[in-house]
Amino acid sequence: MAHRPRRRIPWIIKYRPKRIAEVIGQEKAKTQFVEWLQSWLKGRPSKKAVLLYGPAGCGKTSLVEAAAREYGLEIVEMNASDFRRKKDIERIATTAARMRSLFARGKIILLDEVDGISGVADKGAIDAILHLIETSRYPIVMTANNPWSPMLRPLREAVLMIPFRRLTDRQVITVLKRICQAERIECEDDALKEIAKRSEGDLRSAINDLQAIAEGYGRVTVNLVRMLSAYRNREYAPFEALLKLFNAKYLFQAKAAVTQANIDYETMMIWINEHIPTYYEDPEEVSRAYDALSRADVYIGRIKRSGAWDLLSYVFDFMGPGVAFARKKYKYRWKKFTSPQRLQELAKTKRSREVREGIARALAPRLATSRRTVKRDVIPYLRVIFTNNPKYAARIALAYDLTEEMVKWLAGDRADEVLAYMGVRHRVSRRRHR
Ligand SMILES: Nc1ncnc2c1ncn2[C@@H]1O[C@H](COP(=O)(O)OP(=O)(O)O)[C@@H](O)[C@H]1O
Ligand SMILES: [Mg+2]
Repeated sequence: MAHRPRRRIPWIIKYRPKRIAEVIGQEKAKTQFVEWLQSWLKGRPSKKAVLLYGPAGCGKTSLVEAAAREYGLEIVEMNASDFRRKKDIERIATTAARMRSLFARGKIILLDEVDGISGVADKGAIDAILHLIETSRYPIVMTANNPWSPMLRPLREAVLMIPFRRLTDRQVITVLKRICQAERIECEDDALKEIAKRSEGDLRSAINDLQAIAEGYGRVTVNLVRMLSAYRNREYAPFEALLKLFNAKYLFQAKAAVTQANIDYETMMIWINEHIPTYYEDPEEVSRAYDALSRADVYIGRIKRSGAWDLLSYVFDFMGPGVAFARKKYKYRWKKFTSPQRLQELAKTKRSREVREGIARALAPRLATSRRTVKRDVIPYLRVIFTNNPKYAARIALAYDLTEEMVKWLAGDRADEVLAYMGVRHRVSRRRHR
């Protein structure tokens, strides 16, 4: 019997606040929310619905879950992709309007991330939600990162608005420290500081970073944090990163542009590869830029073979300054950088969506969480592991019985390495001989 590794739970789920008091900060929001909820329980709600809004990963959904648990309420949840279907809202509305039976548990209706509703196609959804608010016999909680789109105005007017604040670095560090202690992980204070700083108050991404490093490498040091965040910086969208790259005046700016894009370095290569000829007009510039990019590619190959990740810095030197200073003279030029065709196709293929959906379906019950949470919180984290640490990825894949296709989807170019660690080829060949 092969050794079956213990299943690991993503820490953002494991360390989700269980009680309202465990939600860090947000004191004012907590008071407002609890008062509102109590007004409901007493049968005299001030407003029938609330909208919790604020930056990502600051505790909105956590507060709702903790409060529900404390007050013994069941959460009936719906997410933005369901809002599109009026039918689904009506289904919830029917449940919500039904009289509470004497013994039934109380409910909270949670419409998470309502700012996902946008565009003309979703207009009906807003009306359906307003109708839901009118008829519901249960408290309705909505959340949003940005509630200010004109479309959401009727909602804003119908609800109690409760703002959440961006968490401070110190609050993020407090949570990270607690987790390190609970997990008995050795970690440098400066490393936690660095994770907190880079998370920009987003505790979800901070905890994911912490776990990716701790489980991948067994300890958390500043150097590991720097290395990882080269892939996972939340600073710039790719098109912004490209604009910064091509218009960099100094070496450090060009390097920052590629290391601070919110995509991994290989995706960044694809973007740069696509746009060298769309940006540079002079053939000599084009050829110099491609030359630099191919050197970056050579280094990536070496790193993958040797596992010497400290060489990554050279990759960025070639991708960043190498490409930017291929130009003959400096002149700021704005350009709209569109997503490379190849990436668009990859992301859009039906099969790709199906695999992602399949992973969510496989993991959700085992992590005791929703598919949506798996897609939003767990899959990005798995991606980091699968593209960086094949050995550890293999353990995860075995523990969760991921299929070969799922592994390939998660690991991309490194799928072979992960599969090798899983012993997949070995098993296949043995079966053939039987
Ligand atoms: N204020 C907070 N206190 C404690 N944990 C938090 C807080 N904010 C976020 N977290 C952690 O980050 C993760 C994501 O938080 P969540 O409440 O889902 O964020 P959002 O504001 O985007 O709804 C949770 O699993 C939780 O562990
Ligand atoms: Mg949320």
